[in-house]
Amino acid sequence: MTTHQPGLERTAVGGLLQAVSQYLGHEVAPEWRGAAEAAPRHRFLPDRVWLSGDDEALTLCERGREPERWFAAAYGDVPVVTQVNDGEEPSDPADAWPSSSASAPSIVFRMLELLDLAPGMRVLEIGAGTGYNAALLSHRLGDANVTTVEIDPAVAELARSGLKANGYSPTLVCGDGSLGWAARAPYDRVVATCAVQRVPYAWVEQTRPGGVILTPWSDDWSHCGLLRLIVGENGTASGRFSAESAFMLMRTQRRDLRLFRDVVMDDHVPVESTTALDPWAVADSPVETQFALGLRLGDLWYAWHHEPDVEGVETRLWLATTDGGSWAAVDWDGTRGAERYTVWQHGPRRVWEEVEAAHRWWLGAGRPGPERFGLTVTADGQWAWLDEPGAGFAARPALQETEQRD
Ligand SMILES: C[S@@+](CC[C@H](N)C(=O)[O-])C[C@H]1O[C@@H](n2cnc3c(N)ncnc32)[C@H](O)[C@@H]1O
Repeated sequence: MTTHQPGLERTAVGGLLQAVSQYLGHEVAPEWRGAAEAAPRHRFLPDRVWLSGDDEALTLCERGREPERWFAAAYGDVPVVTQVNDGEEPSDPADAWPSSSASAPSIVFRMLELLDLAPGMRVLEIGAGTGYNAALLSHRLGDANVTTVEIDPAVAELARSGLKANGYSPTLVCGDGSLGWAARAPYDRVVATCAVQRVPYAWVEQTRPGGVILTPWSDDWSHCGLLRLIVGENGTASGRFSAESAFMLMRTQRRDLRLFRDVVMDDHVPVESTTALDPWAVADSPVETQFALGLRLGDLWYAWHHEPDVEGVETRLWLATTDGGSWAAVDWDGTRGAERYTVWQHGPRRVWEEVEAAHRWWLGAGRPGPERFGLTVTADGQWAWLDEPGAGFAARPALQETEQRD
């Protein structure tokens, strides 16, 4: 099968737009339909991609060997992974994790809609990836109004060649998008296609008052949410979340924390207690709980340990502060709906008690979902809030991006 048949391409793009319209709940707007038709998605994909199977594990798909599977992925409403492990492919495919991808088309078009673009607007995209989104933006706004930044040189090269081959030439910068790209500021819109847990203040500084910053969200506890901020006159930006999609975290905000290397040490003597709060109710719980706890808890993360080789314990939930200084573990003996669970806590902070308090707060607030939360970003830091910006409750560390990389 060849994938250069115009009829086949047209049918495939038509099918994709239909799937996207279904997700959006309405027809894709004519201007975006035109952009999708002018920039068929498969033309931006490399010949080697990784696809998720039923078990979510990534498997390599080579265009030369499996042309139908490769082409079907290009026109499925699915993310197509174009790089794993920052370009250092593991010998065992089970160890592969995505480090660049073409995002699922439904979220691409949803985000384009949320940008609320008008002709002549200037856009900064963070995370060029395959260049597909930049091509759609260039088609709509013109090359001169689009700047896209990609941190990975090999990925940036893929984007550059894909854009060029398809007749687009936005400004493509290979660099750290958390610094924005001051040379072409101010922008009407900044759109990130990798997730952040701290909105880089450079994005606020480089967006004109009234402009929009749209970014996927991911914190140490939960990995979902889309944040749309409006930039004010006073150097702040504020806006709300919606409950959409999970994106890979911006590379400059990644942490490398390992439980048994950095947190839990042999000489720790934890304090034992019990709790009535089911560990499954706070971790791997529905998106509303996870999202709220992530914002409320600020700097806690968790990991499940199945079959920990402890008598009577089927699964242990570990929780820790991101500085590694305090931790907790909650034991589950396999009984659903047990009355009490054993808790172990170590360090200056009582981590499990913080989780219990946050969960109580969430219940008391009427179990709010992501749409009831927002975030305000200032030069001094960022504050999450419930319902109204005035009542900020959790500040994430106001680190500068350069400090975070140390
Ligand atoms: C989901 S992919 C982007 C999809 C892309 N917009 C497209 O249309 O194909 C996320 C990209 O963000 C890039 N990225 C991660 N951290 C970055 C950073 N600090 N600055 C710029 N790009 C970054 C990754 O290398 C990856 O290519």
